[in-house]
Amino acid sequence: MTSYKDGMLKDDALKGKVIVITGGGTGLGKSMGTYFSKLGANLVITSRKQEVLDATAQEIESLTGNKVLGVACDVRDYAQVENVVEQTYATFGKADVLLNNAAGNFVSPTERLSANAFDVVIDIVLKGTKNCTLAFGKKWIANKELNKNILSIVTTYAWTGSAYVVPSAMGKAGVLAMTRSLAVEWAKYGIRCNAIAPGPFPTKGAWQRLIPPGMEDKLSLENQVPLKRAGDHQELANLAAYLVSDYSAYMNGEVVTLDGGEWLQDAGEFNFLDVITEEQWDFASAMLKKVKGS
Ligand code: HXC
Ligand code: NAP
Repeated sequence: MTSYKDGMLKDDALKGKVIVITGGGTGLGKSMGTYFSKLGANLVITSRKQEVLDATAQEIESLTGNKVLGVACDVRDYAQVENVVEQTYATFGKADVLLNNAAGNFVSPTERLSANAFDVVIDIVLKGTKNCTLAFGKKWIANKELNKNILSIVTTYAWTGSAYVVPSAMGKAGVLAMTRSLAVEWAKYGIRCNAIAPGPFPTKGAWQRLIPPGMEDKLSLENQVPLKRAGDHQELANLAAYLVSDYSAYMNGEVVTLDGGEWLQDAGEFNFLDVITEEQWDFASAMLKKVKGS
């Protein structure tokens, strides 16, 4: 029996690839990186905390035997991002994939945000993703390197918008626009750009910032997600591994939603009828069939 908790690609699917993951020391970045490494990739993981990166690098290396380099970098600072490019080329001689995964976020009524609080999220999500994309893109194009790949993690509210996370929604919408724009502009240089929009995948970083204390019941996944569960990190890792692999060579400019149907739940006009029982439908259908004429 196969399961969404199993790895999906062939053992050596990413062998020889060098994959740079921003925010790769924790959460979903760490899970995706672990799977890429199992599939044969060498990794560069970045975030602001060197000690977190070192611990994750050691953990992944001892699990898979493949190399993981941790480079501290604040993605908001272009000079630090350029240093990641330099360190990557100095160690591995190339980079094949950039996974834009680093993010900052917290819930708050928008009018309570200071100007700096608003900026901090947009700067990490949008400016940080732009910095990494520009630095690696420039390098690849200048070197005339081909078969490169940029994958960005967004959210479904990149296109629906969402109350209480407005800076994040603005930032992710910008990242999605960047993905679709560069998919066309940089295809001639052999660079593909895609995105994943995950629904809820429990991580410490997200959960402690997005669920106000005491509100856990109101945000029940059973009510929010038609499939009645959270995502499993392996199923996100499977999709990401496919998108950074050569199996997806014809996919460019796509955003793939992986959310158990969550964003559509509130979008469909009549989805609220989900609460009606079979018995209530028996009665309602009988009544509705009697409606004739205007
Ligand atoms: C209001 C807040 C705040 C909060 C910080 N600020 N937290 N304002 N509510 N909860 C304000 C501060 O007062 C300050 O404003 C400004 O924001 C900057 O705060 P710092 O702590 O100095 O910033 P910094 O150290 O750079 O930290 C950035 C951060 C932090 C975004 C605030 O949370 C962080 O490091 N996050 C990284 C990881 C993360 O967020 N992971 C979750 C991603 S989940 P003033 O005016 O006082 O200077 C995600 C999921 C999306 O994206 C979809 C889910 C389904
Ligand atoms: P996470 O563990 O908090 O991941 C965020 C990572 O970004 C951390 O490793 C953090 O490390 C790094 N980071 C933050 N600010 C940075 C900066 N200025 N420079 C460099 N690195 C920085 O949370 P997660 O849930 O795994 O989120 C990963 C991605 O998935 C994010 O893009 C998020 O928006 C997206 N996402 C998550 C969910 C979910 O349900 N979990 C749903 C939809 C989308 P440091 O703080 O040490 O720098």
